[in-house]
Amino acid sequence: MEKKIYFFLFLVTLFFSCKEQKTLYKVGFSQAMSDDEWRESMNNSIYDAALLNNKIDLTYSDANNKIEKQINQIEQFLKDSIDLLIVSPIKQEALTPVVQKVIDKNIPVILLDRKISDENYTSYIGANNIYVGKLAAKIIINELIRNPSKYSDKNKINVIEIKGSLGSSPANERSIGFKEVINNTRFKNYINLLKPITGDWNARSIEIPFRKLIRSGKKVDYVFVHNDRMAYAAWQIAKEFNIHKEINFIGVDGLNTKYGGIDLVKRGVLKSSILYPNGGEEAIILAQKILENKPYDKNNFLKTIVINSFNVDLIESQIEKIINQKSKIKNQHLILNKQNKTFDRQKSLIIVIVVLFLIALFYCVHNYYLINKIKKKNKTLQSYNNDIELKNEKIKKVSEELKLNLKSQFDFFMNISHEFKTPLTLILNLIESLKENSIGYGNNTISLLSKNSYKLFRLVTQLLDFRKISSKDGQVKVSKTNIYEFIEKIIDDFKNEINQKEIKLFLKGSKYTSFAFINHDLIDKVFYNLIDNALKFSPKNGTITISFKNVISKQTNKKELEVSIKDNGIGIPKNEIRNIFKVFFKGSNNKNISSGIGLFLSKQFLKLNLGRISYLENNIGSEFLVNLQSEKSMFKIENIVEIQDKMIRNTFNDIGHKSFEVYKKFKNSDKDFNYEKLRILVIEDDIDMAMFLKLKLNTYEVYISHDSESFKKAFDIIPDLVICDVNLPGSINGFEICKILKNDLRTSHIPIIILTAESHNKSMVKGLKKGADLYLTKPFRLSVLTQSVESLINNRKKLQYYYTNNIYNVNKKSFRNPEQSFFLRLNKIIDNNISNSDFSVENLSALIGMSRVQLYRKVKSILDINISDYINNYKLKKAKHLLKTSTYNISEIAYNLGFNSPNYFSTVFRNKYGYTPIKYRKDIKKLFTRIEV
Ligand code: FRU
Repeated sequence: MEKKIYFFLFLVTLFFSCKEQKTLYKVGFSQAMSDDEWRESMNNSIYDAALLNNKIDLTYSDANNKIEKQINQIEQFLKDSIDLLIVSPIKQEALTPVVQKVIDKNIPVILLDRKISDENYTSYIGANNIYVGKLAAKIIINELIRNPSKYSDKNKINVIEIKGSLGSSPANERSIGFKEVINNTRFKNYINLLKPITGDWNARSIEIPFRKLIRSGKKVDYVFVHNDRMAYAAWQIAKEFNIHKEINFIGVDGLNTKYGGIDLVKRGVLKSSILYPNGGEEAIILAQKILENKPYDKNNFLKTIVINSFNVDLIESQIEKIINQKSKIKNQHLILNKQNKTFDRQKSLIIVIVVLFLIALFYCVHNYYLINKIKKKNKTLQSYNNDIELKNEKIKKVSEELKLNLKSQFDFFMNISHEFKTPLTLILNLIESLKENSIGYGNNTISLLSKNSYKLFRLVTQLLDFRKISSKDGQVKVSKTNIYEFIEKIIDDFKNEINQKEIKLFLKGSKYTSFAFINHDLIDKVFYNLIDNALKFSPKNGTITISFKNVISKQTNKKELEVSIKDNGIGIPKNEIRNIFKVFFKGSNNKNISSGIGLFLSKQFLKLNLGRISYLENNIGSEFLVNLQSEKSMFKIENIVEIQDKMIRNTFNDIGHKSFEVYKKFKNSDKDFNYEKLRILVIEDDIDMAMFLKLKLNTYEVYISHDSESFKKAFDIIPDLVICDVNLPGSINGFEICKILKNDLRTSHIPIIILTAESHNKSMVKGLKKGADLYLTKPFRLSVLTQSVESLINNRKKLQYYYTNNIYNVNKKSFRNPEQSFFLRLNKIIDNNISNSDFSVENLSALIGMSRVQLYRKVKSILDINISDYINNYKLKKAKHLLKTSTYNISEIAYNLGFNSPNYFSTVFRNKYGYTPIKYRKDIKKLFTRIEV
């Protein structure tokens, strides 16, 4: 569309530009001077002619009779790129070069009234000055003809010529013409031509020389003066001497002004004035011809005439008539010009109207076309719309159905969650009464039961809170609360975990100024969640700092309490920070079981409380900022209360302490373990779970360890079985611990049960690959676990039997596990030192790279015999072999096998097998003899 508009505008411009344009020629006019009436009349006629001429744009310059100035002005015309020059040169010679320059630039030059020294100009216009001179001479000759008796060669007629300025062409030519006629007339002898006087065209220039002449007493009959101005001045001088009537003055110009040539003739001052037309009008006509390349003459001589007392009136009236007509023509021309301009304006207006009409027409047509097009498109759109509306309705229906479905599912889920509460409350109450009635050991079990039931209760409450926030409208009830003390109470509930992880917890800020308006139930959940998280993700010996600061909110300009909870734990990966307050968010580095709604709920709860929560990015750990309102005015009066409902969690706030006490008791019992009992190492960071296992596996000596360093404990105690969780605080997980233990000679034999909440097959395979003997997932049935523990220990016993009976047959084929290499190495060391009677268990454990206890426990665990018995057995088996195959006597064998005396050897041998070495050798020999026979 835009393109079309541009096209129209282009047409309009084209139309206007095609409109008839007058070509204006730039014509420069260089006037010699303008301080006399003749020049004035020349200027007027050239102006008027230019005015009436539509094609010429005339620029005027006046040289004030100064040659340099005239040259410069012509140069300037050249610079201004004139198309033609009209010049009336002050003097011939001086102006010739600049006129040449103009001609050389192919700019035509019209010489007006005066000429240059050569013929190199385009055209000349003005009267023929030679002819003017001749006419003057003829007037004098006529006098001689009319009065032949008056003059003779003795009585000559005295004639003097008063010339125009030297070097100007009219003065030069007038003089030539005058002399030519005088010198060639038959009355030449009657004429006495006095020495001429040279003026400068102005009256004053001749006064001195003419007065001098008159004073000289010389008789003067005729004076030919080159112009009327100088002639009148000469007459005035003659009048001074009262001889003016005796002298005949002939002037040139014949102007029709006061004291102009016509007036002077009429007054009888001048005998005659030769009409010298200024040629201004004719110069413009000639210029147009030249510029339009029309034919023209090089020299255009204007007609001249002698004005005398006989024709002066006629000429005057003729001139006046001409002047009148010219002014009429001028006026008419001006009127015509005006009308032309009006016509032009009207024409332009009509053109504009026509163009606008055309544009309007175009738009009408175009709009009609567009309307039709839109109509068509509308129809298609309408049908699309109908389609879309139909589809939308369908989608709406489906989405409503879905919503209903989802809502009923959600309601069902929420109702079920709600249903949990009643049985849970019942269980909790029953536990409470059980606790009161039970004594001793059972108490720990009840405490565990109690604590975990409350945990479940809290989770169910959290789930229901999730729905609560979406249905809560308006503000919640708040009361002014000492937040410092409020948080202190929450921390009390975590004393257990804080002590267990040896966390350093600092509270910074003033207890007396940390107030805010909060809903206890909601904000308790927020801080409980944040502190719980900080503890969960802090390492052992970590630091948690809770700071309180009174600030002014930038948004509301109101006082707020800012609580910062900062830990040096695992933190949140940077790219996940923006999602932390979204529902079901779980950090990728969080290995714990988490519902992912804690932070989401915190944010929503704070919102209901007109508070905010934000996360601060730190290099280490996490920092949460909680902003709470400290000004009453932020809440509606009806929402501010003095006392709030007691929180459910506070009713049971002693649970934490109790379970910690139990844990401590269990931990301490590590010291006095029973060597007779089989040992189980439980690696589990959940204290409750660890304690539960300790309680339930009480037929064993159970050791508890809760972090990734636990494998060191396994090296210490060399347990008979390890139960290990996968997710543990610290750098390595349960799988890694399993791998370490299985690859270490000291612990490779120990059966390991991986006990974890990760139930997918991949991690199960991973666990088994790392050498785990069994993989159990949480929640598990206790009976399955105890049965598994028993089975693994029994299997070990079966192996013991196997190893015990095959220990001397250890070779590469019969053992296919790490124990093979262990016993191979053990046997080799014993072999190497077998004759050394001082070789002790200490020596052996040092050589195999274990402590005495570790070696003792490993051998005991695999073979169920102590290490010294193992060495003795090995020696005795070897003794049997030697008795059977060698010829060594008993003493030699005894010493070879490191027994201090043959008697001691025999005693030990008999104690083991029930017969002496001698008897054994005899019996074997008999047996072989029998076989040989
Ligand atoms: C005017 C004038 C006239 C004379 C002419 C010659 O300036 O002096 O009187 O005829 O110039 O160029």
